[in-house]
Amino acid sequence: MQPQIPERRRLQVFPSVHGGRSALTCKYRCGDACSHDVPNTSDNEYLGDVIAKALSRRGLFKGGVAAGLVVGATGALAGSAAAAETDGASSATRWGRGPKGLDFDAVAPNRADAVSVPDGYEPQVVIRWGDPVLEGAPEFDPENQTPESQAGQFGYNNDYTALLDHPDDRRKKVLVCNHEYTTESSMLPDYDEAAPTEDQIRIGLAAHGLSVVTVEEDRRTGALTPVVGDGLNRRITAETPFVISGPAAGSDLLKTTADAEGATALGTLNNCAGGTTPWGTILSGEENFNQYFANFATMTDADQKAKLARYGFSGGASARKWEQYDPRFDLEQEPNEPNRFGWIVELDPYDPEWAPRKRTALGRFKHEGAGPRLARDGRVVVYMGDDERFDYMYKFVSKEKMKSGSSRRAREHNRKLLDEGTLYVARFTGDSPAAEIDGTGALPSDGRFDGSGEWIKLASGTTSYVDGFSAEEVYVWTRQAADKVGATKMDRPEDVEPSPKTGKVYVALTNNTNRGTGSNAKADEANPRNANKHGQILELTERRDDPTSLTFGWNLLLVCGDPAAADTYFGGFPKDQVSPISCPDNVAFDPYGNLWISTDGNALGSNDGLFAVALEGRHRGLTKQFLTVPIGAETCGPVVQEKHILVAAQHPGELSGASYDNPLSQWPDGPGSIPRPSVVNVTTDRFGSIGC
Ligand code: FEO
Ligand code: CA
Ligand code: CA
Repeated sequence: MQPQIPERRRLQVFPSVHGGRSALTCKYRCGDACSHDVPNTSDNEYLGDVIAKALSRRGLFKGGVAAGLVVGATGALAGSAAAAETDGASSATRWGRGPKGLDFDAVAPNRADAVSVPDGYEPQVVIRWGDPVLEGAPEFDPENQTPESQAGQFGYNNDYTALLDHPDDRRKKVLVCNHEYTTESSMLPDYDEAAPTEDQIRIGLAAHGLSVVTVEEDRRTGALTPVVGDGLNRRITAETPFVISGPAAGSDLLKTTADAEGATALGTLNNCAGGTTPWGTILSGEENFNQYFANFATMTDADQKAKLARYGFSGGASARKWEQYDPRFDLEQEPNEPNRFGWIVELDPYDPEWAPRKRTALGRFKHEGAGPRLARDGRVVVYMGDDERFDYMYKFVSKEKMKSGSSRRAREHNRKLLDEGTLYVARFTGDSPAAEIDGTGALPSDGRFDGSGEWIKLASGTTSYVDGFSAEEVYVWTRQAADKVGATKMDRPEDVEPSPKTGKVYVALTNNTNRGTGSNAKADEANPRNANKHGQILELTERRDDPTSLTFGWNLLLVCGDPAAADTYFGGFPKDQVSPISCPDNVAFDPYGNLWISTDGNALGSNDGLFAVALEGRHRGLTKQFLTVPIGAETCGPVVQEKHILVAAQHPGELSGASYDNPLSQWPDGPGSIPRPSVVNVTTDRFGSIGC
């Protein structure tokens, strides 16, 4: 049995600079984004018409109800300790056990160094950082890691995860996963962050990117086992060539010493969430790319410097010191290199010969992910969030229609769809009087945070719709273009995903503790709490259910946090019957139309988790925690299918004070080991339908 984290170490967890996230995660994942000034200093808060409807649909909530539903036994992974704070109550409520998909015993908030799942479910580690992917790659040996080993092994800090059909073998599936960032001080022995060796730097470069891994499915248990060296297996790293594609390709803004054509960028960085297109390719968002570039403070290109400031660039040396090995990470030498990051990338997991693309038509910002949907006429729509405090939500609508079928011709056509289309940014208007949105989270008199919105056109092909910006400037400096047209400043828009069942779009707004502070924008109806620690889920309905529509209605489905607190809202569902949820990050849907939400940085003191939320009927707003990830980890992925749920447990043990010599988690390998980010597959213990 793996012991629980000693109390001495557990005490280090919860005092945190930013919600539930550790200082180590802030440093290596986001480049301490929250410690810096808000990059959006634009004065574009929208003051459009506020329409008071005074429709009281649901009445006001009363605070002080009992604490949330915290129930059920927990199965712990790899012999780890079970959740310590489970109260053992039943999850059956006066509302029944929930609709199809939500019929499981909710997992209690806990601080276990384990993956905790409901009774009757089995968690299985599919693949861990350092496991071999390519033919000839060695087994994981952290004491003797090399750049060459890492380039053939599963990368670090798995985030977006997809589980696809295998093209020609029904017993197999194709797992695609990206690798957001590295924490060298926890990965590598003898690591001196002031003076990393060239090999240590090259290991870091190789541990970024994406992995494609064929897995074999056990038909009896549903366990997934990697097939090392399979023909589809690939590693994409921070040095893999990417074709720069779409309307900004070849722009002077993208040219560097090594690439005078502005046509090929090396590698992808800080890939966060993503999406799977209807034609079977993977989209992945380049997020906090600014942190990899050094010498902003001393760069001499004043115009470029001013523009980079809007993307959060600052300071001198970078945290990882890659600039010491590769001058492209030195802004004094290569001021345009960062313009080649911050894109949505597209990878075809079924075609290893096809070079991955950077899709400039989808704009450049700190892309969280990309949620595609087909319009009725066959055009593809992609919804996207820019994960920064007070930044924006976007959508792209393709010009051409998707061709169905799997012919080579259809595939080649579809792989160009994201190069031509129109890019929009969102503006939200509340329908309640501004005076009723007081920043406390108290519901307005119509009983809902809701209203209308519009998509504002930014650029289409080579046409710009933003005064003073050429089209290529809109694509490369998308944040500044959106500032100009009066987009709504949101509370860190993360995943934006359309429901395959209803077409409604769900937005995870993770938190924004700067809302309403100093000169920052104050609460509005879509972002109704000042100093917002716990975030909200926004539900968006496009006009006539047409994703190419330019107007929409919206409401807040969840205002997250402690259900017992007056400032939380769970879709109108009784708050004494729900699980506490904080800092929503990624969203997915089960086959029955329920929403699944993973969290990052739980500010309520528990480990992060995965939650299922009913969207329709009398159960709308019922929220149940399905699993928790190990201490210090974030719940990424997720994949939600009828019989499989996969989460990428990112940065286990990443707590303040953790290092290679002082690991604060032993998950998943047990005593004496360092923690390893890993993909976990959860099935019922009889490999039946989940939540039924
Ligand atoms: Fe990488 Fe927005 O989380
Ligand atoms: Ca309202
Ligand atoms: Ca994320």
